Amino acid sequence: MIIQKNLPMACAALEKGEVLAFPTETVYGLGADASNQNAVARIFEMKGRPSFNPLICHVSCLDMAQRIAILDERSCKIAKEFWPGPLTLVLPKAQNADLASNVTAGLETVAVRIPHHTGARELLNSFQKPIAAPSVNLSGQITLMRPEDIWNTFGHFEDFNLFDGDAPNVGLESTILDLSRTIPLILRSGFITKEAIENVLEETVLYCDNKEEIRAPGMMLRHYAPKKTLIINTTPQNDMLFLGFGNQDGILNLSPCGDLVEAAQNLYIMIKILDDMKEAFSTIGVASIPETGIGIAINDRLKRACGFYDKKDIS
Ligand code: TXA
Ligand code: MG
Repeated sequence: MIIQKNLPMACAALEKGEVLAFPTETVYGLGADASNQNAVARIFEMKGRPSFNPLICHVSCLDMAQRIAILDERSCKIAKEFWPGPLTLVLPKAQNADLASNVTAGLETVAVRIPHHTGARELLNSFQKPIAAPSVNLSGQITLMRPEDIWNTFGHFEDFNLFDGDAPNVGLESTILDLSRTIPLILRSGFITKEAIENVLEETVLYCDNKEEIRAPGMMLRHYAPKKTLIINTTPQNDMLFLGFGNQDGILNLSPCGDLVEAAQNLYIMIKILDDMKEAFSTIGVASIPETGIGIAINDRLKRACGFYDKKDIS
């Protein structure tokens, strides 16, 4: 069912154990009551997501975060600076956390985020319980950013609902920072950069190396993939649909003025448009994107989407 800005209906759907897609400032989330094992299981089923890949719990306030996770002084400092916002913290799970075990895939840690999107916050405030939600996409495939694409993909499930509202404005999934270890580790890059986190913590933060076994349990090396072949860091060729950036133009351009924030907003939407173009070339080429600021996150998604890591020894 499509629920247009009707909070009581959205909460009733979650209460019934149904799945509810809702916008956040990063991407849409495929949400369910995080304390309801069957409801959470439906998220995994609908996405075709492997059960070992844990979900992010969305909460409305620090109080609610502390009901499911243990925040030490360092975590509180980060939370105070970046929440609400596009940053997820991996924290030790609170002892009496009312969470279904499949949310955390049986781990002793839990991923938590307070979104700053108005609609998402109103939903969390009304529901008054954590909402577990991965990004809205079929597992491994491109993240869906438009309500019509979401409805076309999931609308056939009877227990699926779309709670629509203002579109996400970041365009890429949140930064994930693991604070459950001695050294803070970025498990996934996003809008909140390593430098911004280091400035607040006044200590070194590391990127999770894909070769290490400590990477996020579900951090798949091939992910966000379109159906067409994707080639990154390239220049326009005759036999491809080219996605430009800055003054390197293509059929579409992520940001004609070379703005990385705008490019992030457009990334998934434009790749999806090129992927859906019928009777056109079967290859999408993407201009090279500067490896700075949110460009790091854009390049991370592009590398996973094109199978860059498939060619690497990651054992
Ligand atoms: O912006 C976002 O983060 C969006 C919106 C909806 O909030 N959500 C999102 O969720 O991107 P998802 O499931 O697509 O990505 C969550 C990532 C997964 O790679 C998962 O492995 C990791 O978070 N994760 C969740 N819990 C974890 C934990 N306890 N330890 C390490 N990684 C965890
Ligand atoms: Mg995802």
